Amino acid sequence: MDSVLVTGGAGYVGSHACKALAVAGWTPVVYDNLDTGHRDLARYGPFEPGDIGDRERLEAAIRRHRPLAVMHFAARSLIGSAVADPLATYRTNVAGTLTVLEAMRRLGVGMLVYSSSCAVYGHPATVPITEDAPLQPVNPYGWSKLAGERMIADAGAAYGPTWTALRYFNAAGADPEGEIGEDHRPESHLIPRALMAAASLIDCLEVYGGDYATPDGTCVRDYVHVSDLARWHVAALERLRNGGGSVAVNLGSGRGWSVREVVGAVEAVTGRTVPLVTLPRRPGDPPVLVADPARAAALLGGPARLPGLDRMIDTAWRWLQRRRV
Ligand SMILES: NC(=O)c1ccc[n+]([C@@H]2O[C@H](COP(=O)([O-])OP(=O)(O)OC[C@H]3O[C@@H](n4cnc5c(N)ncnc54)[C@H](O)[C@@H]3O)[C@@H](O)[C@H]2O)c1
Repeated sequence: MDSVLVTGGAGYVGSHACKALAVAGWTPVVYDNLDTGHRDLARYGPFEPGDIGDRERLEAAIRRHRPLAVMHFAARSLIGSAVADPLATYRTNVAGTLTVLEAMRRLGVGMLVYSSSCAVYGHPATVPITEDAPLQPVNPYGWSKLAGERMIADAGAAYGPTWTALRYFNAAGADPEGEIGEDHRPESHLIPRALMAAASLIDCLEVYGGDYATPDGTCVRDYVHVSDLARWHVAALERLRNGGGSVAVNLGSGRGWSVREVVGAVEAVTGRTVPLVTLPRRPGDPPVLVADPARAAALLGGPARLPGLDRMIDTAWRWLQRRRV
């Protein structure tokens, strides 16, 4: 079986991509320093402990497994910590990505699928957001992801690897078979925090801003099931293997849900109350972020298969109960 080096494959999205790769007949080789990942989530192929900044270790792993491609998830992805300590985020997300690209070049790995983010768009002037919207991040995390995209595009033009930059909106849910799921510590994402509040694992859910120009005053975000994200990663890889050209693609559902709608859905799924506290807006939070999913549908095989918010919340709830309660 052909192998793929999956940096960050012990994390949330990366572990689901590994499962999808294994189901599709690839061998996912996880390369991860377990900074925010978990050893038990890397269960679909070999595990290589290591930091993406460690050139020798990374190259040794590539020499050992001879992957046809790299899927590059490893990153620091907390916006708050990127604002507080931008250089640490740039070291992992920019310098780390540079080391991955250099290793690929030196050892002749010809395809890359990269975890980018809707944070590259900053405050979009119009929604839904197409891939041609201006790229104008508003925080160091978004800049680090955009810098990664820029280096990848320039390396592709100069040395030939083909690539797909997948700009995720909000990954949500867990493996429907319950094998893997989200386990960020600390957890900052809305759905798991709302579930944690419902399960009394935290005192209450913080809602940042209740006075936005949205129907109920709270921010609207596009949630997409992590298993759909995973499937699209495999589709992106297979498209490159079949000669598809390098491209950036939004990964979202194409519809938005407000914070209050998410809380209502969490209460309906769990049958429990979510205690809330409404706090001031966070700087840099746009009111509405929703993807135009047309390019993903055209290039990566159809719309989301698990598009409903209830399904995302239900799979996440079952995972949280197994993992944390
Ligand atoms: N979760 C989302 O909604 C979302 C949205 C947009 C973009 N992204 C991007 O998707 C990717 C995966 O996000 P996630 O939510 O799965 O995060 P995660 O923290 O669960 O996974 C990141 C993984 O990378 C590993 N890692 C971090 N630094 C490393 C290093 N220097 N060397 C080796 N491994 C390292 C961590 O241990 C972890 O297993 C990230 O690049 C993130 O920026 C995520």
